[in-house]
Amino acid sequence: MEDREEISYVNQQEAIEIDRMLMGPLAFTVDQLMELAGLSVASAIGEVYSSSEYTRVLVICGPGNNGGDGLVAARHLHHFGYKPSICYPKRTTKPPFAGLISQLESLSVPFLPVEDLPMQLSSDFEIIVDAIFGFSFHGNPRPPFDSLIRRLVSMRKQQRAHEKAAVIISVDIPSGWHVEEGDVCGEGIEPDMLVSLTAPKLCAKMFCGPHHFLGGRFVPQSVIDKFKLKLPSYPGTSMCVRIGNLPQPNLSAPKGIFAASLSLEVEEDPIDQFQKWLGDALAAGVKEPHYMVMSTAGKDAKPSSRMISLEGVNKDGFVWHTNYGSRKAREISENPHASLLFYWCSLNCQIRVEGFVEQVSDEESDQYFSSLPRDAQIRPIVSKQSTSINGREVLYQQYKELEDEYHERTSIPRPKHWGGYRLIPEFFEFWQGEESQVHLKLRYYVEEIDGRKVWRVDKLVPLLAESTSSL
Ligand SMILES: Cc1cc2nc3c(=O)[nH]c(=O)nc-3n(C[C@H](O)[C@H](O)[C@H](O)COP(=O)(O)O)c2cc1C
Repeated sequence: MEDREEISYVNQQEAIEIDRMLMGPLAFTVDQLMELAGLSVASAIGEVYSSSEYTRVLVICGPGNNGGDGLVAARHLHHFGYKPSICYPKRTTKPPFAGLISQLESLSVPFLPVEDLPMQLSSDFEIIVDAIFGFSFHGNPRPPFDSLIRRLVSMRKQQRAHEKAAVIISVDIPSGWHVEEGDVCGEGIEPDMLVSLTAPKLCAKMFCGPHHFLGGRFVPQSVIDKFKLKLPSYPGTSMCVRIGNLPQPNLSAPKGIFAASLSLEVEEDPIDQFQKWLGDALAAGVKEPHYMVMSTAGKDAKPSSRMISLEGVNKDGFVWHTNYGSRKAREISENPHASLLFYWCSLNCQIRVEGFVEQVSDEESDQYFSSLPRDAQIRPIVSKQSTSINGREVLYQQYKELEDEYHERTSIPRPKHWGGYRLIPEFFEFWQGEESQVHLKLRYYVEEIDGRKVWRVDKLVPLLAESTSSL
C-alpha cells in the first residue's frame, strides 16, 4: 500500500492536459484509454469484492467517457464471473460507445431503463458502479442523473441505519463531487471504493472510504516527467494498485457473510501477509480493522497498553501518530520497543507484531498532518494527552477559540508536540482460530544470515509444526 503523501494529485486542468498529451503526441485513442480504465476498475473490484459474494453488479453509466469506462468495466466484470446489469439512460451512439453496447448485448448483459430499477437498489445488487461523471464534469447534475445520485446517497443513509446496502464503487470521481474540492455541499455520494484513473484527482484526498485504488498502468515516462507525477509502482502484473492512507472500515459489507475467509497462503514477507489479511478483513466487513492495541514499557519495565489507530503500513513498518508528551512517548524514549495487537473478532483472528520504535521525520509528520481535515488538525493542538484537565468544557472552549483563530488561515501548522512513530517489526504472529480447534499460527522472526536480515517463518498447527525459511 502506498503512502498517500508520496503520490501526486492532479487538478482538473492538469487532468485535461494529460489526456490531451496522451491522445495527441502519444497517439493513444479514446478506445484504448477506455479499455485500460475499464479493465483497471474491474480488476480493482475483483481485488476486494469476490464474485461469489458480490455477484450482481449495477453499472450506472453517464453520457460521457466516464460512462464508457463503466461499459468496459461491465464487460470485464462479466468475464470475471460477475453478473452485471447496465443503466445507461443517455446512450451515446458514436464509436466507441456503439461498439461497447453491441459487445455487451452480445453477452446478454441487460440494459435497464431508469424506470425499471428496483425501488431498493440493494435488494437486487451487491455492487453499484458509479460511472456517471468524470473529471471534466462541472455544474449541477441534470435529470435523470441527479435523482440517480440522490438514490445512491439515500442508499448509504439506510446503511447507516444498519440496513444491508450494496457497496458503491466510483470511477475516477464520486459523481456530484467537485473535481478539486470534493463533496462541496456535503450531500454527495460516499463510495466504498474509489478507483482513480491515470493519476488521482485532488478531490480524492477527501475520499474517506475503505478502498482507494489507482488504475491505468500505462502512463508513459514523458507524461510523468512533464507533469512531475509521483505514481506508485504496481504489484506484479496487476492493472491496479491500492493507494491512500490505511483503509477505513467498510461498514457496507453485507452482514452475516463472515466466513473464516482469511487467506491461508503463506507469504515470505510478513508485511505482505499482514496486507493480505487486512485486505481480507476489509472485504469481509470487519469494523475498524486498523485499530490496534499498542503496548510499551518504560525504564521501570511496567507494561502499559492503549488503543491506537494505525495510519500506514509498508515495508518500512507500522506508523501511528500521537502526542510526544504522552505516557507512551515517554516510555518509548526510555525503551524504544513496542508491541502491536490486532484482533478481528468476526474472523476469529489476531495478529501480533513486535519491534523497534523510532520517531518519523518532521517532514513525514508535517505531510501527514497537512492531509488531515481541519477538525482533526485542531484536536491535537488542544489535546494534552496523559495530563489532568479541569473538565471537558475547558477543552471545548480552547477548541472553539482555535477554530475561530484558524478560520481565515488556509493551513494550520503542526503542533511540535504531535507527530508520528514507526515500529520496525522484528516478530509477527498470525493466529486464526477454527471451530475444529485446528488453529493456524504463523510466526515470523528476523534472523541475520551472512550479515543480511532474513525473515524465517514457522507454520504451526496443533501437533504439527513445519519450518521454512524465506530469503
Ligand atoms: C479506538 C481508539 C483509537 C485511538 N487512536 C489513537 C491514536 O491514533 N493516537 C493516540 O495518540 N491516541 C489514540 N487513542 C487514545 C489512546 O488509546 C490513549 O488514550 C492516548 O493516546 C493516551 O495514551 P498514553 O497516556 O498511554 O500515552 C485511541 C483510542 C481509541 C479508543
